Amino acid sequence: MTDIQPIQFAGEDQSNAVRTQILNQEPFAIRTFTPSQCVISHSAGSYHFTPEGRKLADFTSGVLVANLGHNPVSWWNRVIDYLGLGAIKDGDQYAKCVPLTAYNAITEVEALANDRLIANLQAAPGGSRINQVMWSASGSEAVQKALWAAMKRTPGKDMIIATRGGFHGKKGLAGAITGSEDDKERDERVRFISFPKAECDDVETRKQPIDLTSYQQELDALWEECGDRLCCVVTEPYLGGGGSYHPQKEYLQLLQSFCREHDLIFILDEIQSNFGRTGPMYAFSHYEIEPDIVLLGKGLGNGIPVSAAVGRRDIFESLGYGEASDTWSANPLSSAAVLATLDEFEGSDALEKGLVLADLIETGLVRLKETGAISKVRGEGCVWGIECAELDGRSGAEVANQIIERCYAGDNGAPAIHLLGALAGKVLRVSPPLTMCPEECQAYLDRLYDVCNEVAAG
Ligand SMILES: Cc1ncc(COP(=O)(O)O)c(C=O)c1O
Repeated sequence: MTDIQPIQFAGEDQSNAVRTQILNQEPFAIRTFTPSQCVISHSAGSYHFTPEGRKLADFTSGVLVANLGHNPVSWWNRVIDYLGLGAIKDGDQYAKCVPLTAYNAITEVEALANDRLIANLQAAPGGSRINQVMWSASGSEAVQKALWAAMKRTPGKDMIIATRGGFHGKKGLAGAITGSEDDKERDERVRFISFPKAECDDVETRKQPIDLTSYQQELDALWEECGDRLCCVVTEPYLGGGGSYHPQKEYLQLLQSFCREHDLIFILDEIQSNFGRTGPMYAFSHYEIEPDIVLLGKGLGNGIPVSAAVGRRDIFESLGYGEASDTWSANPLSSAAVLATLDEFEGSDALEKGLVLADLIETGLVRLKETGAISKVRGEGCVWGIECAELDGRSGAEVANQIIERCYAGDNGAPAIHLLGALAGKVLRVSPPLTMCPEECQAYLDRLYDVCNEVAAG
């Protein structure tokens, strides 16, 4: 039996009861730790509401999922229309809805989602190599499927270069390319190359030019060691789960050149960055690269589980019938969500709104350094990380947890903010929906400033 006690907050009887019940009935392993373990009764736009009726600004977009905000009505209406649910009447015994299966069957909504997603990607600078969609349900499955295809493309070439300190998921090959060679028992087919963390450990550092010599040397050494077995290089545009490190674009361009020079597949994991997080629809435009395969997830369905590896047909065709199939891939609910999300992005000013917010967030977060509680600020667009300082014998991780708790509590009528448990131990993620109202975002950034001051004061 575990000695882990449910987290409880004074005055939250209903939430506390749910927290206790969940801890009894679910292994705590399925939930990452956060000191608030916030219970959410409903969510709308940029807000969550607790069962007690407290309103929390969502500085996380779920986990970078609800880029358009939570439950936008126009988006839900579109999902419902694509599913054929709009015409349901009371008393109908069977509604004329799309089937909720795509196994050994094909639906037109899936075909439409392919068309629209490919067109959207090809219209983005850097997306011209993409002409097929390999659907899946979670991010790590998209990673797995892309790697399976890459590893089968040429017999005998099954080795992968991944960037050290990255996060691609926990399952299977996604877990094998996450982290570094030191973390756990390693898949002997994976090699790591350094990511330029020191060169981009703060918004200011990142403005300096990067010297790529050592990275080129590492790549050359890897080629020397196992070039005859390499099939691909996989990276994220920025290290997300690894602590929010956003590199100079020349680093990613170097990885791409290495791939082109040696006929390796360049795979970009945009599961976290897709659909507007870094500014444009896809981070590859922003970083001026043209990957062979791009991995999509999270914001792709604005909250409905769906992911995909999108890329070159000639690579995906290395997998035979059924080798990438499963129960949920391409199911019509996820196709409808992707279509509705594309409709909203293509038909609204969500990206422009994100850019307005981006400037505001950068200024508001850089200001936090004045408090002494935050030592580094990293990010771009609407995806930021603030690194907590060590303070009077408190570790960065402890400081991070104190900030999360105070933001959640929203003492004395101060606005409350929902934050995720720290990344890489001590980095707090700030990634509100792109559609958060700028004035409200400013008010929450001001609250964060006060909280950081309070925590710094001890
Ligand atoms: C860049 C990146 N890749 C892959 C994943 C894994 O996605 P999932 O948790 O849906 O398997 C994540 C999740 O945070 C991610 O940030």
